[in-house]
Amino acid sequence: MGRILEISHEGRLMSRIVMGGWRHDLHPLLPWGHRVIVITDKTIARRYRRLINQYEHIVIGTGEKIKTLQTIEEIHRELIARGADRQTFLLGIGGGIVTDITGFVASTFMRGVRFGFVSTTLLGQVDASVGGKNGVNLDGYKNMIGCFNQPEFVLCDIEMLHSLSDRQFRAGLAELIKTGLLGNRVLFEMVEAMSFEELRRDPLLMADLILMAVKIKAGIVERDERESGERRKLNLGHTVAHAIEKSSRKMLHGEAVAVGCVVMARLSVNMGLMPEREAARIEAVFARLGFTLTSPAPIEKMIVALRKDKKAAADQIRIVLPVAIGRCEVRSVAFDWLEERLREVMK
Ligand SMILES: NC(=O)c1ccc[n+]([C@@H]2O[C@H](COP(=O)([O-])OP(=O)(O)OC[C@H]3O[C@@H](n4cnc5c(N)ncnc54)[C@H](O)[C@@H]3O)[C@@H](O)[C@H]2O)c1
Ligand SMILES: [Zn+2]
Repeated sequence: MGRILEISHEGRLMSRIVMGGWRHDLHPLLPWGHRVIVITDKTIARRYRRLINQYEHIVIGTGEKIKTLQTIEEIHRELIARGADRQTFLLGIGGGIVTDITGFVASTFMRGVRFGFVSTTLLGQVDASVGGKNGVNLDGYKNMIGCFNQPEFVLCDIEMLHSLSDRQFRAGLAELIKTGLLGNRVLFEMVEAMSFEELRRDPLLMADLILMAVKIKAGIVERDERESGERRKLNLGHTVAHAIEKSSRKMLHGEAVAVGCVVMARLSVNMGLMPEREAARIEAVFARLGFTLTSPAPIEKMIVALRKDKKAAADQIRIVLPVAIGRCEVRSVAFDWLEERLREVMK
């Protein structure tokens, strides 16, 4: 078995994160004697036939557009048609879309069945599959319907990252850098010292970096599972990222998070919270790894989207500001004030 990290809450084991490979590590994680049904997407089903065909499986489409209640309902119907019951174990194999959907299906089917994940994207491994948030989008609002519920295990399969496109890999790197930026200077500096090619080619190094990111996220989740305080830090760069994603289809989520992190760093400098040279380092690491650091959407369109953001309560909005590399603060600010500052720093 690969390296394991346990997530507990108030002394109770909630989830195990395993860094490993499906060939050796999946079977021992599955509950003995239970029926297992896999939920995966069509890309994984095609590329990893040998893995998927070992289990009964339900295959869904790809892309954010299928992350809907309709897909949840279709999977529920399929489970009923196949005679799944409360003893059935659901195994999500895929990226963040598959794991968000599987977690929600498992939490609601017959009031909840046991479930686990094989996480197959870098973004999924450092972020989406860890932490117990499950859910789908509604009317274009991301993750509007969902629940908190921890998978029994998350197997982060490092080898499967090989078949990811460079673009998807880079999108995952954005969340990795974000995690270093908000909570661990060493993680940030390790990524800072590497080129894109070195990161792509070195699975052992990646396993170390992923585990560091997972530890930071898991620590925060242990202290604040329901996002009433510290967990909000994980949204660093996401207010701007969601506004970009809602106003343009040109960027992947991680690509938009990179822009969001850089904008927040500039805002921190503008507010006198962080020295200019730290912001310059943040910008440089993203630029060197090949990220585009300007929003593809005009600022006016982004502001309209921001106002609709679900995190905007009344005329206040919560933002996460890096105050140093490895440390950030959550602040509630007036919307009008933020709008004005964004116009300045995104010029
Ligand atoms: N629950 C959370 O806490 C949380 C956190 C962050 C993001 N998310 C969600 O995660 C989703 C994004 O996740 P994602 O970036 O993993 O996207 P994704 O699940 O859409 O995967 C990206 C693409 O890569 C393909 N793919 C997956 N693994 C592959 C592999 N090993 N080789 C080749 N292709 C592969 C998929 O089929 C898909 O087309 C969003 O919906 C986002 O809201 C959730
Ligand atoms: Zn994210």
